[in-house]
Amino acid sequence: MTALDLSSAVAVVGTGTMGQGIAQVALVAGHPVRLYDAVPGRAREAADAIGARLDRLVEKERLTGAERDAARARLGSAETLADLADCALVVEAVLERLDVKQELFRALEEVVGDDCLLATNTSSLSVTAIGGALRAPGRFVGLHFFNPAPLLPLVEVVSGFATDPASATRAYETARAWGKTPVACADTPGFVVNRVARPFYAEALAVHELRAADPATVDAVLRESGGFRMGAFELTDLIGQDVNESVTHSVWQAFFQDARFTPSLAQRRLVESGRLGRKSGQGWYDYRDGAERPEPHTAEPADRPAYVVAEGDLGPAGELPALIRAAGIEVREEGGGSGSLVLPGGGRLLLADGQTSAELGGAIHFDLALDYRRAARIALAPSETTSPRALAEATGLFQALGKKVSVVGDVPGMIVARTVARIVDLAYDAVARGVASAEDVDTAMRLGVNYPLGPVEWGRQLGLWWVYELLGELHEREPSGRHAPSLALRRHTHASDAGEGTPS
Ligand SMILES: NC(=O)c1ccc[n+]([C@@H]2O[C@H](COP(=O)([O-])OP(=O)(O)OC[C@H]3O[C@@H](n4cnc5c(N)ncnc54)[C@H](O)[C@@H]3O)[C@@H](O)[C@H]2O)c1
Repeated sequence: MTALDLSSAVAVVGTGTMGQGIAQVALVAGHPVRLYDAVPGRAREAADAIGARLDRLVEKERLTGAERDAARARLGSAETLADLADCALVVEAVLERLDVKQELFRALEEVVGDDCLLATNTSSLSVTAIGGALRAPGRFVGLHFFNPAPLLPLVEVVSGFATDPASATRAYETARAWGKTPVACADTPGFVVNRVARPFYAEALAVHELRAADPATVDAVLRESGGFRMGAFELTDLIGQDVNESVTHSVWQAFFQDARFTPSLAQRRLVESGRLGRKSGQGWYDYRDGAERPEPHTAEPADRPAYVVAEGDLGPAGELPALIRAAGIEVREEGGGSGSLVLPGGGRLLLADGQTSAELGGAIHFDLALDYRRAARIALAPSETTSPRALAEATGLFQALGKKVSVVGDVPGMIVARTVARIVDLAYDAVARGVASAEDVDTAMRLGVNYPLGPVEWGRQLGLWWVYELLGELHEREPSGRHAPSLALRRHTHASDAGEGTPS
């Protein structure tokens, strides 16, 4: 099964943000494109807006003037649905409402030819439910583009219960021919990206709700230690708190209120207050003129310790002793122990493991970093019983490595560690449930939400035992079920001993 022929006309129905972007992609790929919108005049306005964007591509020398002119000549708007009769593919990007989409596809089915592929860009509705309205749902598929569609490469190609595999393949190949990176996925709530990404928001919100760190500190730690492009609070301000909350809510409802997807009360209150993010001028941050951006907590300079004793295996933080030595601090290696760095004053530093620091007699947890060499910031979680000397020595140690230090509350799993562990778990769970292949899950998360590593690969690099045990400890301390490691992670963790830890 091959991609649609470039001479075949593509229709885009609903010419708002997404429809315009998708139309531009199909147009630049070489198809004749026809736009239709329920609001009279809007399709024509969309054609003008797309034309203006093509002009900008010419200015940026990404398109020649001749290519722009040819593309403009291929773009048309339709007055009625009947004008779409000869299209080979219709991509729908209308209002996110099941009844509206069903009604539209019922009407389209009366108009288009039998071999016309029908696609929805829904981000949260069931493809199966929309297709259920059709006489012939085999030709119906999800084509989930990301915003802005011309720039973001990922397209989730979603097969509903009744989607004919040949239709999915054709949609997949067509997206690829348009220069996109398609991933094939099953019709489950949130598809891949909006499902696996939920903990990125939820864990940041949970840390804040536990008053362990303010949004600016959580964001700085996610960026500068976790390697994420943006922190969860600034990203949701950009997405729109209402939009982000409604995706969380719909995934949670669609999973029959599965505890792993429970929405956040703090975000609910923010939305109720009208603080929707950048678009309303205020969200977690204040974007109004003259407002100051809050700074993350950053510890004052402290003296470096004279030496540290490295005990046992530090797991994902295993490169720290070498970095400490390279900073000119003596490291005394001791074989046994549970994996910790002991400071001269007796303080003990451990990688976040899902326990509280208080439980460990005043130890200090430090957070997971994507790469301890490159991380610009490290978070420390002392407890009420940690001595001031231990905290000062721990702070001075990481500062000697060139890191800023953020001191946060004693919350199990800290910030990056709990977030990454849960994302890894949901990724393994999604693969086990046939949502997408391991490779496609990783591709989707790297391209759809810019994660620095695909979560399946991330889990492999961290060591699945570390992820599994951290989630087990978190689950013991917050037994809502939200952190309970999945059966899939459990199986792969145990199989990883035999070198079979990566799902396929
Ligand atoms: N905005 C995003 O970031 C994003 C990302 C991925 C997917 N989506 C999905 O794409 C779809 C469109 O989202 P959007 O943000 O572009 O919305 P939008 O509000 O910008 O545009 C929707 C357009 O559809 C038109 N419309 C409404 N009902 C119609 C009908 N029955 N027939 C024809 N036209 C109709 C409206 O007039 C409007 O022009 C939704 O399903 C949404 O979930 C959105």
